[in-house]
Amino acid sequence: MLSDQQLEFYQQNGYLLIKDFATKQEVEQLRLQITTIIEESKVNENAIFSTKTKGKSDLKYFLESGDKIRCFYEDTSNDKSLTVNKVGHALHDLDPVFETFSYNKRFGIISRQLGHQAPTILQSQYIFKSPGVGGEVIPHTDSTFLYTDPQTCIGAWIAIDEATTENGCLWVLPGSHKHPLKERYVVNKERSDTSFVPMAENPPEWDFSNKTALTAKPGTLVLLHGSVVHYSAHNHSKQSRHAYILHLIDSTAKYPSNNWLKRKLRTRILQ
Ligand code: FE2
Repeated sequence: MLSDQQLEFYQQNGYLLIKDFATKQEVEQLRLQITTIIEESKVNENAIFSTKTKGKSDLKYFLESGDKIRCFYEDTSNDKSLTVNKVGHALHDLDPVFETFSYNKRFGIISRQLGHQAPTILQSQYIFKSPGVGGEVIPHTDSTFLYTDPQTCIGAWIAIDEATTENGCLWVLPGSHKHPLKERYVVNKERSDTSFVPMAENPPEWDFSNKTALTAKPGTLVLLHGSVVHYSAHNHSKQSRHAYILHLIDSTAKYPSNNWLKRKLRTRILQ
């Protein structure tokens, strides 16, 4: 349950940190479970996920992952080893451990407080950001990728490892959610190609002068407004920076058919 002060902070800044949201035990259960999932997964060498490079990446494999559990790998074109970048995007519906954590009523209470009438989890991702190879995530807004009309996307980012400026913690531009959304990531009718389409005429340039590092201890929840600009750096450290992320939307909003993410699973409303 968010206090009035927390709600006001979120509305002003477009993000909010809540320490000790998840227990140590919950965090370790998720970490352990993802290890099992990885061990049992089939490797797709072309499943590279990078927000920076346009190397070999299996677009079909990505576009069909909205209702599956699939592994994506770092773009390490220089060597032949594969390092997992992330697992997505329906862990919350298909894996019992992630399901229990994700459908805990805490998320339903918070998303209703933030304006959702019938909150649902659109996607889940477990991000690895491994030591030395964990790639940069370039500045973006989540509503660009998970658009609803009206915009209702909320990111719920949970630190599994401690996130520091050395291992690639989140950075946000406070207040940037008040600007109109710059663009949308859409898929063509055949679902064979994607592109970015502009959403606003002459949107203001993103101002990085007030960029804020969101360092976080394990178990911390970071809430991110769908229009707040955020990013994270490459992990140059020796520490991993695991995180589990849910994206919540209001199921009463219109969900466009040209969003990249398409689910055949039933929509479950959070309690
Ligand atoms: Fe994001």
